[in-house]
Amino acid sequence: MRKKKKIRLKKQAYYLLAGIVVLIVAIILGINFYNDYQYRKTDEYKLTNIGYSLEDTNLLLDTLSKETIDSLINTEKNETIVGLVKEKYFMEKNLDRYLSYIEEEEEENLTDVVAIVNVNADHKWYEEEFQTDTSLNELMNVNKFYALSEEYTPENLVSIPLQYSYGEQGSNKLIDYAYEKFIDMWQAAHDEGYYLMVESSYRDYASQKEIYDSRKASQGEKKADETAARPGHSEHQTGLVIDMTSTTAPLGTEFGDSEEYLWLKEHAHEYGFIERYPEGKTYLTGYSPESWHWRYVGVEAAAVIHEENITYDEYYAYYIAK
Ligand code: DAL
Ligand code: ZN
Repeated sequence: MRKKKKIRLKKQAYYLLAGIVVLIVAIILGINFYNDYQYRKTDEYKLTNIGYSLEDTNLLLDTLSKETIDSLINTEKNETIVGLVKEKYFMEKNLDRYLSYIEEEEEENLTDVVAIVNVNADHKWYEEEFQTDTSLNELMNVNKFYALSEEYTPENLVSIPLQYSYGEQGSNKLIDYAYEKFIDMWQAAHDEGYYLMVESSYRDYASQKEIYDSRKASQGEKKADETAARPGHSEHQTGLVIDMTSTTAPLGTEFGDSEEYLWLKEHAHEYGFIERYPEGKTYLTGYSPESWHWRYVGVEAAAVIHEENITYDEYYAYYIAK
């Protein structure tokens, strides 16, 4: 009798145990099912399901807004977008314009596409016009799209003494803080045996108009636009620019062959000056190279521009206007 009871108890324990095991398995399966169900609702799942690798998916999720991700999920996999997002100067706000530019221009170099669109050069020069934000001081942008008003005159212009400048006394001027840095740079160059000279600097709207109009009259609009800014669009109106030469270097285009130019290329950024229209960047600046045109942007910005080998237009788009 006792033995029978014992067997029954053993059987009950066995059923209980089996029941617990079944329950545990069911719970585990349930959790897995639930997790899987939840995962299928994530953007990570949806993107990988379209065909993006997990690595690219994570990059897209880290870089793009929810709105853009949602639109990606509803279209086919697009490798070009991944390529664009991987570009150093990629800006999401320009994504549609990058894609349009690639399609319209059949441009395959994504680094160029990003740079061109960022500086607005996907538009024709002067097609768009924005007002220059002069409150940015040495970081203000003036180019074929950003313009100064006819009335804009920088404050605190100082005359550059004839020791450093050609022309008549008082004809060359810079904003005081840029002038101070120019003097430091001049001295450093002088200590190494170079004698820099200012050929041209601040120009008001009216003088720029005269220069541009006369060039347009003699060479036609297209040629004039390659070398001279239209009035309001010249950096010379900012009081932050020096057209540089030296007592021994040739003026103008040949300055690029001089030792002084090489010295400036190596050192000007230490004083906050940058070469504004470098060789090979016409497609971004809109101007033929100007080895003589040096723009003050401050030491911090100049260091980045020098290090990253970018134009001021690119710097402004990515680091200031972003
Ligand atoms: N030569 C430069 C682009 C200017 O006219 O401002
Ligand atoms: Zn110039």
